[in-house]
Amino acid sequence: MKAVVQRRYGSAVLGELDVPVPGQGEVLLEVRAAGVDMGTWHLLTGKPYLLRVIGFGFRGPKSPVPGRDVSGVVSAIGPGVAEFSVGDEVMGTCDGSFAEYAVAPVKQLARKPAGLSFAEAAAVPISGGTALQGLRGVQPGQRVLVLGAGGGVGSYGVQIAKALGAHVTGVCSTRKLDLVRSLGADEVFDYTAGDFTGTYDLVLDCGGNRSLARLRRALTPRGTLVLVGAETGGSLTGGFERALRAAALNPFVSQKLTMLMSAERGDVFDELRVMIEAGSVRPAVDRAFPLPEALDAIECVYSRRSAGKVVVTI
Ligand SMILES: NC(=O)c1ccc[n+]([C@@H]2O[C@H](COP(=O)([O-])OP(=O)(O)OC[C@H]3O[C@@H](n4cnc5c(N)ncnc54)[C@H](OP(=O)(O)O)[C@@H]3O)[C@@H](O)[C@H]2O)c1
Repeated sequence: MKAVVQRRYGSAVLGELDVPVPGQGEVLLEVRAAGVDMGTWHLLTGKPYLLRVIGFGFRGPKSPVPGRDVSGVVSAIGPGVAEFSVGDEVMGTCDGSFAEYAVAPVKQLARKPAGLSFAEAAAVPISGGTALQGLRGVQPGQRVLVLGAGGGVGSYGVQIAKALGAHVTGVCSTRKLDLVRSLGADEVFDYTAGDFTGTYDLVLDCGGNRSLARLRRALTPRGTLVLVGAETGGSLTGGFERALRAAALNPFVSQKLTMLMSAERGDVFDELRVMIEAGSVRPAVDRAFPLPEALDAIECVYSRRSAGKVVVTI
């Protein structure tokens, strides 16, 4: 099969590999599309270096093929799989989705939402799942601020918070304002023109690496901060210190300061399927690249040239 092959951090080429064989609890997917997000860039480059220490491969990547978000058709079933059959259309996560075939654990799969293309479905799992998990507990009428609202996680954050009945404010750069409004944000701030104002019951922080002090000033006295991630923290720890400081401070303040470690779970992806089929969430796919241009797709996300989501089609 054709695949993007990555033997060491920082370089990958289009090559040929054997089609993988599904093991216990796994299925073989004929991949139709693969999602791209900042995590794809992190796993391609091995940066921040903290990633290598926490289990993604010290000297080189554990998976020889990049890509985790996937949509496709089940083409073979491993032992012990009752949830899916050959021919089912699915979305989820796996190792090595930048390839014509990939093996996925069934625990990380859900059915593809009716009415979505494979390209759109591949844009759902990681970013949509992260936003959904970050917004757990939001109540109708609460005020939610989404920082990085024009990005992958943020574009779902705006829509999911609206679907939960919140009043949503999005913060993004000038060229993403229209997108964020179209996703349903009640208010939008262009951070290049000045800082946002107001206080919020929940801040979903997906971009900008603002200080904890600034983020706490944006919260009501019992508000919740959800640190999702930022890209300005340096190549050693990627800004993880901010999350550690939030965890250390959390027991001593009335606000709830949390760092999100989103889980890749089929039941979460299935919740997203239900929201998508109900019409309250729609993937904002900006660009699709063919498999031979997968590295351009990653660069497009890394350099923030995309708005919303980028996918690779196979
Ligand atoms: N914790 C987890 O489990 C988890 C899961 C998924 C992703 N992440 C991390 O979460 C972060 C977001 O992921 P993503 O896939 O959404 O990335 P993304 O698509 O690059 O989105 C980040 C957005 O933040 C915007 N931004 C940059 N500076 C900003 C500022 N000062 N104020 C407001 N927005 C700003 C960026 O574009 P503009 O500059 O054009 O506005 C971009 O649209 C990444 O660091 C990623 O690694 C964490």
